[in-house]
Amino acid sequence: MLKGRDILSILDFKRNEIEHIFEVSNEMKKILEKGKSNLLEGKILATAFFEPSTRTKLSFETAMQRLGGSVIGFSEPSTSSIAKGENISDTIRMLDSYADIIVIRHRLEGVAKLAAEIANSPVINGGDGTHNHPTQSMIDLYTIWDKFEKIDGLNVCILGDLKYGRAAISFMYGLTLFDPKKVFLVSPQLLKIRQEVRDFLKSTGLNIYETESLEEVLSDCDVLYVTRIQKERFPDPTEYEKVKGSYRINIEILKNAKDDLIILHPLPRIDEIDMNVDYTKYAYYFKQAANGVPVRMALLSLLLGAIE
Ligand code: NCD
Repeated sequence: MLKGRDILSILDFKRNEIEHIFEVSNEMKKILEKGKSNLLEGKILATAFFEPSTRTKLSFETAMQRLGGSVIGFSEPSTSSIAKGENISDTIRMLDSYADIIVIRHRLEGVAKLAAEIANSPVINGGDGTHNHPTQSMIDLYTIWDKFEKIDGLNVCILGDLKYGRAAISFMYGLTLFDPKKVFLVSPQLLKIRQEVRDFLKSTGLNIYETESLEEVLSDCDVLYVTRIQKERFPDPTEYEKVKGSYRINIEILKNAKDDLIILHPLPRIDEIDMNVDYTKYAYYFKQAANGVPVRMALLSLLLGAIE
């Protein structure tokens, strides 16, 4: 069903396809418990990271290696011929001729789409500017589904930089494929969702409620998705100074939380979640990051046609 497909946006997928990815991710977890498999033996993944990454790049690499495949690529464009002035199209053409599947991250929106137009191999968007980060959303949704066995009917709160955070925005897009009860969007005024995102979410019938106060909604939440302020994306550094440190999850705030609330965060965390919270039953962000491996194993296997 997914063989040969590109992954550019979570909205390229239907709900039943996402649910299929969840089921296959469960199978991949079983493989991980046993050690590894040779499902993708002989296959090569190319990673082209023009922006910093820890989890996305390393979990894709782990996923490929756990399935018996191998990895080429770069994470520091200054060590590739891009530093000599080579254009992205030529770089992609080369990767396409060396590898069977490509993951690309770039600060500009649309670069993954351009890569997909050039390459014959499947292209996975590992994050393009402030827009899409579809595999992160799949991991986020999978983590919720894994815990609650559903996404429908839950109250989900997304906190933080909803203006520039591609993980947060992609997650909202992903939620439109399901039927959550309410989606609370909590942010300082300066970091509210962009109008085009608001228009889209409303057009899908997603039940959103925007507020600046976490206290107002926290006690109703099943999922609290916290995000980092995307300092590097602010056109004006004085705007960043105005919102820096404006929200922080600590034990005190959580005293009103539901018993089975889960806290997610795409990571990296700066100061938005106190380290003490890591030791509470609510902390799910490290489990979420670990889920990056089975979900990406599922995606590589499906896109390369090793499983249906
Ligand atoms: C996110 C990203 O790069 O968009 N990180 C990730 O992939 N886990 C979130 C972020 O950088 O804040």
